[in-house]
Amino acid sequence: AGGDAGGTGEGPKPLDELVVGFSQVGAESGWRTANTTDIQGAFEDAGIELKFSDAQQKQENQIKAIRSYIQQQVDVIAFSPVVESGWDAVLNEAKAAGIPVVLTDRAVDSADDSLYVSFLGSDFVEEGKKAGEWVVEEYADADDVKIVQLEGTTGAAPAIDRAEGFADVIGADDKFEIVASQTGDFTRAGGKQVTEALLKSNPDIDLIYAHNDDMGLGAIEAIEAAGLTPGEDIKIVTVDAVKDGMQALADGKINFIVECSPLLGEQLVEIVTQINDGETPEKRIVTEETTFTQEQAVEALPDRQY
Ligand code: AHR
Repeated sequence: AGGDAGGTGEGPKPLDELVVGFSQVGAESGWRTANTTDIQGAFEDAGIELKFSDAQQKQENQIKAIRSYIQQQVDVIAFSPVVESGWDAVLNEAKAAGIPVVLTDRAVDSADDSLYVSFLGSDFVEEGKKAGEWVVEEYADADDVKIVQLEGTTGAAPAIDRAEGFADVIGADDKFEIVASQTGDFTRAGGKQVTEALLKSNPDIDLIYAHNDDMGLGAIEAIEAAGLTPGEDIKIVTVDAVKDGMQALADGKINFIVECSPLLGEQLVEIVTQINDGETPEKRIVTEETTFTQEQAVEALPDRQY
């Protein structure tokens, strides 16, 4: 097995003898699929064995997977927590077994930060703020803006933080009103279903803020089915910038996208090799990200990898 954050004390293992266990959230979105492909590809390129399990968006499945990695005495455990809370017990088990844990993409809310070595991923509060800043600018001359928020998975760090960052920015002006806010679980089907229902109770909304592209794409289907034009009658701002989202942005159906990069594989390999070498990785590594307007999406699309 691996040892603590400072390495085994036995010197580094050859990379082809290292074993990493990775517990993924699921396959709920285009972002998630791109993230899985990138991580698996990076470990293959590095010649490091990656055991992979898909939790189908259930915390109990992630806990089982982590326990199984502990039992298999892998060298490092990495996981993207489906929700923020409820990890202390299993993370303490990993610690007791001397297996370093790396958080990718999403945070846990444990008070004890010795339970993980490093957290690699986006600043979701910042993403929510960027979405809010676009809204404030777009509606600079409006008197009253009715907003529907499509939230990500309840209890997940990106759902909590993107709502917080957005509310912080639009909250400065009371002309912005979030008339409804419901979870679409980060899925296209969820976004469609929630929008369908919300359009019935709130037919005069101006804007949908969706916590990811997939829910925004579902909202587009619901808006079109209601005989309205997405991007015009109802504007849409989303987070992620996966290919399907970028295409809808270039087509004028989405109005603005805040990027959230799923390309975490190379940096995760780097963290694992640092641990193996007995080095201490940075505790928090924030992903670099940008934003896209419709014009920028047209330009970026041909080279978009995912
Ligand atoms: O944790 C990242 C989020 O999870 C992405 O924005 C979303 O698409 C995914 O499901």
